[in-house]
Amino acid sequence: MCGIVGAVAKRNVQGILLEGLKRLEYRGYDSAGMAILSDEGRLNRQRAAGKVAMLEERLEASPLAGHVGIAHTRWATHGRPSEHNAHPHQSGESLAVVHNGIIENHETLRDELEGQGYVFTSETDTEVVAHLLAREFTLSQDLPTAVRNAVALLEGAYALAVVHKAQPDMIVGARKGSPLVVGVGVEEAFLASDPLALLQVTDRFMYLQEGDVVCLAPGGDIVVHDTAGEHQKRPVQTFEHGDGAASKEGYRHFMLKEIYEQPQVIAATLEGRLSDRHVLVNSFGTEAEPLFGQVRQIHVIACGTSYHAGMVARYWLEKYAGVPTQVEVASEYRYREVVVPDGTLFVTLSQSGETADTLAALRFAKERGYVGSLAICNVPGSSLVRESDLTLMTQAGPEIGVASTKAFTTQLVALMLLTLSLGRVRGMDEADETRIVQSLRALPRLIGQVLALDGDIERLSTEFAEKHHALFLGRGAHFPIALEGALKLKEISYIHAEAYPAGELKHGPLALVDSEMPVISVAPNDELLDKLKSNLQEVRARGGELFVFADEQANLKESEGVRVLRLPHVDDALAPILYTLPLQLLSYHVAVLKGTDVDQPRNLAKSVTVE
Ligand code: G6P
Repeated sequence: MCGIVGAVAKRNVQGILLEGLKRLEYRGYDSAGMAILSDEGRLNRQRAAGKVAMLEERLEASPLAGHVGIAHTRWATHGRPSEHNAHPHQSGESLAVVHNGIIENHETLRDELEGQGYVFTSETDTEVVAHLLAREFTLSQDLPTAVRNAVALLEGAYALAVVHKAQPDMIVGARKGSPLVVGVGVEEAFLASDPLALLQVTDRFMYLQEGDVVCLAPGGDIVVHDTAGEHQKRPVQTFEHGDGAASKEGYRHFMLKEIYEQPQVIAATLEGRLSDRHVLVNSFGTEAEPLFGQVRQIHVIACGTSYHAGMVARYWLEKYAGVPTQVEVASEYRYREVVVPDGTLFVTLSQSGETADTLAALRFAKERGYVGSLAICNVPGSSLVRESDLTLMTQAGPEIGVASTKAFTTQLVALMLLTLSLGRVRGMDEADETRIVQSLRALPRLIGQVLALDGDIERLSTEFAEKHHALFLGRGAHFPIALEGALKLKEISYIHAEAYPAGELKHGPLALVDSEMPVISVAPNDELLDKLKSNLQEVRARGGELFVFADEQANLKESEGVRVLRLPHVDDALAPILYTLPLQLLSYHVAVLKGTDVDQPRNLAKSVTVE
């Protein structure tokens, strides 16, 4: 979603801010802007519609210079993507602000401020914040005080960074409902919505808490006040992921690089969490074992691709651990009356740990008598991680491609660890447990074998590039994999794709099948294979063209209209993880053929920090 960068430095900050925006661009990218306080005391701004490169061109033509500045990359919520709606927003020539989130009472505030003579030049909710801050500054003549007083009037979610030319050596930041971190430098201080934006200047971060207002002053001074106005010291943490992830390392796209990283990141997610035959339950924290002993039910909540991981986990948790499990998208869950039976564990899944609906669902759940909360997440220090009782970190490393790939498969691995841990506490069959643990160890190698099929999958993709629709089929735990395959194709190639449980085909979607509708199916060699084969016959009988990713032992043969790509045999339990790979590669190659923006598909954002 939108990205914020700010810097109070000993050097000119334009380069730092621009690099930060480039690193954040994967989150949201319809316009960008920057405001820098010049040494002569002027507030100068450049904005441009389109990608950060457009802003960069403007800055090359007329650079900004100074030691204090803020910048933003936008993903439109209020007002179309355009230069005049791009951030920073100003009130007059003195104050500039960048904002992530949504101000829900912006209409009321706008009426009030217009009544007081403030003139609006954009359709954004953020401009309300700019004028509100200016009004409060007029009253207090102190930027930190003005920010504290202004945010008290805001309803909704925000991360803000503000500069004022009357106090030209500082940035004031504030957060509530949207992430904001302080980067700690040597006599310099930085602000960003994601640590990734600042890894070129520091690896030390202070994670702000809900309601915090922070002042970055010269010499690297960082002063934090909480909602009550009390002075607070927030701990400084070292970022663990390193900076290598921000480069494509020779791959054409981040997405391809991230697909190819899956053997390593899956191995990293397993590391230190398995004994010879078991999962180490303590991987979920020292309190996990007693808590898991009380679990009778599970509610899994997530959005997007993470939701699909939750759907797979439901099959696993019920089959292997015998725990009744419900899975729901966060945006639905948080707005309904939820019945929470005794002993229910609340599980959230999130790559970013900052998805607004998932975070709100966790806060909603805390009031509803769950036995505890567990977050499976990829970003250490994220809001979801900080606010959950138990956490299990996936070790995918930063994921830059908007379409999630390695985050999904590492979530599945983490969910299998959860299944086995709960199964262990609840007396799961030991032979199953040992077999699955051994198969988990072999998984990175098998994934490597599937990646070696990339050339075949690329050739298959040529048959899709001209299509307008596609149908994905799967049964059992592979129905969510079909959903995920369809989502990937939609996201990056803009081909309309739908997924169905194969058994539902004859209840409607079969009407769509003809030679123009490719039907993609995953066919592991499990107990549902024969039923799936019958469903595939139903497609073939209607002239549909089939593309089947099948187990090498599944005895599925190629024939006219039926293309079969064979995958190495894998334990049933882990097949959903392995069968995800060919679908990722297929979408990737189709998108490349179509010439779309693979890493930053239109209209989407990596981290959806607004509702
Ligand atoms: C966005 C991303 C998806 C992601 C979803 C949930 O829509 O584009 O790739 O699955 O948010 O994000 P999370 O960080 O909570 O997993």
